[in-house]
Amino acid sequence: MRRANLPQSSQGSKPPVTASLIRLIKLALPYRGRFSLALLALMIGSAINLVFPELIRRALDPAHRDTLSAQLPVLMAGLGLLFVVQGVAFYLRSYLFGWIGQAVYSDLRRELFEALLSKDVTFFDRNRSGELSTRISSDAALVQDAVAIKLSVIIRYGFQVVCGVVLMAWMSWQLTLALVMSVLIMVGVSAGFIRSLKAASRRYQTNLAHLTSFAAECFSGAKIIRSLGASGDVTRRYRDANMLVLQAGRERVGISARFSSGASLLLNLLLLVVLWFGLHLVFAESLPLNELAAFILYGAIVAVSFSFLVGAYSELMQGLGGVERVFELIESSALNESQDAVGSLRVGGAPVTVELKHVHFSYPDRADNVVLEDFCADLRPGSVTALIGPSGSGKSTIAQLLLKLYTPTSGEIRFNGRPLHEVSEGELRASIAWVPQEPELFGFSLFDNLTLGNNTLLRDEVLKTVQAWEFLDFIEPMEHGIDTVLGEHGALVSGGQRQRIAIARALLRRPSLLILDEATSGLDSHTEAQVMETIRRHIPTASLLVISHRLATVRSADTIYVLNEGRVFEQGSHDQLVAHEGLYHSYVTRQALR
Ligand SMILES: Nc1ncnc2c1ncn2[C@@H]1O[C@H](COP(=O)(O)OP(=O)(O)O)[C@@H](O)[C@H]1O
Ligand SMILES: [Mg+2]
Repeated sequence: MRRANLPQSSQGSKPPVTASLIRLIKLALPYRGRFSLALLALMIGSAINLVFPELIRRALDPAHRDTLSAQLPVLMAGLGLLFVVQGVAFYLRSYLFGWIGQAVYSDLRRELFEALLSKDVTFFDRNRSGELSTRISSDAALVQDAVAIKLSVIIRYGFQVVCGVVLMAWMSWQLTLALVMSVLIMVGVSAGFIRSLKAASRRYQTNLAHLTSFAAECFSGAKIIRSLGASGDVTRRYRDANMLVLQAGRERVGISARFSSGASLLLNLLLLVVLWFGLHLVFAESLPLNELAAFILYGAIVAVSFSFLVGAYSELMQGLGGVERVFELIESSALNESQDAVGSLRVGGAPVTVELKHVHFSYPDRADNVVLEDFCADLRPGSVTALIGPSGSGKSTIAQLLLKLYTPTSGEIRFNGRPLHEVSEGELRASIAWVPQEPELFGFSLFDNLTLGNNTLLRDEVLKTVQAWEFLDFIEPMEHGIDTVLGEHGALVSGGQRQRIAIARALLRRPSLLILDEATSGLDSHTEAQVMETIRRHIPTASLLVISHRLATVRSADTIYVLNEGRVFEQGSHDQLVAHEGLYHSYVTRQALR
């Protein structure tokens, strides 16, 4: 399947690095108080580092030799105090940056989850769910790392480099100029490295997300894999995908190692040149020896700081590949009105009439495959409409169009006389309940599953209602009854029981339109009859849309639409269609034979 929506690689138009950096810093804005304190601690710590060469310069000054020995104890005590202050500053800096990183990580996970969930449903047709959930944790973790560690390191060493250079320039501008020039050349060389590093990291993250989601898929399908004897096949696929991750990872560490070792070598050579040049100045008596010593010390601080700075910057750039992807995912999210349905849903509206007029439809991802052609139907309050037809004839698609998950290519759906696109998300969700063939249950308690999205219901009310429904008689014997916690996807109950729970969940919403899409396929005919009877009793004025292969389910419908390849082949009541002796008639005779 195509995965067009998920940003995959570094190709194509990208926001510039600075834009991502600005967004990163903006994430920390809500925590600016702590951030400022962290910055202050950082600067105090770094400033103390920069005091030492100056002390050395003074200590080695021949003019101060006598006073130095007298003041030594005071000097040492002062130094000790400075160390303590530096220790406190260090603690504050690392704690606060770490704290902010965790806070940003948590904000981002939440934001990403909301953004992904509000995306158009086609997004989920294109992307694997496992991959999306991996990205929430692993890609957002990159942002945490970028904020908590990399930014702090960059600011710290950036500060030391700048201050160090200023202090050096004060001692000897010629030497400083020589140093700065060489450093600038290095920066130019590193830019190319950093670009390739970023691309390699993006590849690595993408491959890793594929791998993780594949593993998740395998674990949830473990029984099928076992039954197919496909463990070997699956393992081979995993091994191949794993190899791709390894290759990308190797490539990344390769670039990274070449980069940092090259940078460190260059820096040392640089210091050597400075020392040489400085000694010349000393021999020429234009620079005192103690100044040169201090200068070299500053040079070492600047050089080491710079190499850390470059290292952190390159790692930040690696992370930025993933960081950009997080921002892209958040920004490209379809901010539709679905938000207004959340929380404030008041289910159980007035009866509705839905008309489908000359509906044509193709899925956006497969525009060439015409799924529905000129489909017309009327769903009236209190009526039962059935859809029947071979698999792939477009039945489930009709249900999803009614739910406004997709929009017809042409034609119109009217909801109580209004075009469907004008009906608010909240009103629609409150009026329509949908039970697909494979209903989704979640790993919470049965009660929470039954009232998901419908949490204004009182617990007693739910209990009473549910106890009265015979088709839910399997709940009571369970050890914790309605508070039994279901496994992932509702494992722990059988497929048919899952369907029954899903039907109950829909019914509790008292929908005006109930869509059952092969929702009783796992039930025996007796239970199915119980279900249908309960539905009619519980929501007598609702309109029912029943999709089923089973004639027993559809025969009592007011109108039956027989679909074939997206077109209505026949329509009418059971008796009319049987009399017509067409496709429906042939179904009837075939099922009667069995
Ligand atoms: N999400 C989708 N994206 C693209 N094509 C789809 C999607 N879902 C279904 N289809 C295609 O639409 C056609 C009708 O599918 P569907 O309505 O599910 O059939 P039915 O429910 O009658 O078995 C099929 O050809 C199917 O391949
Ligand atoms: Mg279907």
